[in-house]
Amino acid sequence: MKVEKAIQGLETTKKYLDKKIKWDKLTEILDSIRYAPSAGDLQNWKIITIQGEEIKQKLAKFSYDQLWISKASAILVVCNDQSEVKRMFKKKADFYSTQSCAAGIQNLLLRATSLGIDSAWVRTFNAERIRSLLKIPEDMKIDALITLGYADSREPQPKINELKNIVYFEEWGKSEL
Ligand SMILES: Cc1cc2nc3c(=O)[nH]c(=O)nc-3n(C[C@H](O)[C@H](O)[C@H](O)COP(=O)(O)O)c2cc1C
Repeated sequence: MKVEKAIQGLETTKKYLDKKIKWDKLTEILDSIRYAPSAGDLQNWKIITIQGEEIKQKLAKFSYDQLWISKASAILVVCNDQSEVKRMFKKKADFYSTQSCAAGIQNLLLRATSLGIDSAWVRTFNAERIRSLLKIPEDMKIDALITLGYADSREPQPKINELKNIVYFEEWGKSEL
């Protein structure tokens, strides 16, 4: 799939079929994070891949009862490794490391789309409950849960903002060249 098709085809899916993602596809998705840019080239991401039903249900519960999460075939728990980042960036560590992980997450989502797999990015959760459930060390921030699966039905596409409302030329507010 061409990259623009994946970009335009990527949308949040919250209703999944009871259909497993094959392991080779899952590893391709996971592999895509390695190629994302990261501040200081620290590649400060770690992922816990969850496929077990019981843990998926707990993750849904710890995401303030977003119960649809448990229906995904897999959930990627994207962690942001703070150890080296803090040494290099001190007070700016959080700022840089979060942006780097977000770039990595977007790679995961686009690779999934290109393989015909639907997804959602979730950040509304109780991080401390997930930390304790999955034994995640204290120097890891939990940045996102990424749900992956095959869409049963899709949400209505949100309105996409027009480019003219987003882009300026040469200075703030200048909409024409
Ligand atoms: C940082 C971030 C956090 C999000 N957290 C949640 C979440 O907790 N629950 C949820 O249902 N959607 C979540 N979303 C998905 C957005 O609601 C969704 O991307 C937005 O409504 C636009 O829809 P689209 O992705 O189909 O274009 C999150 C998205 C981002 C980027």
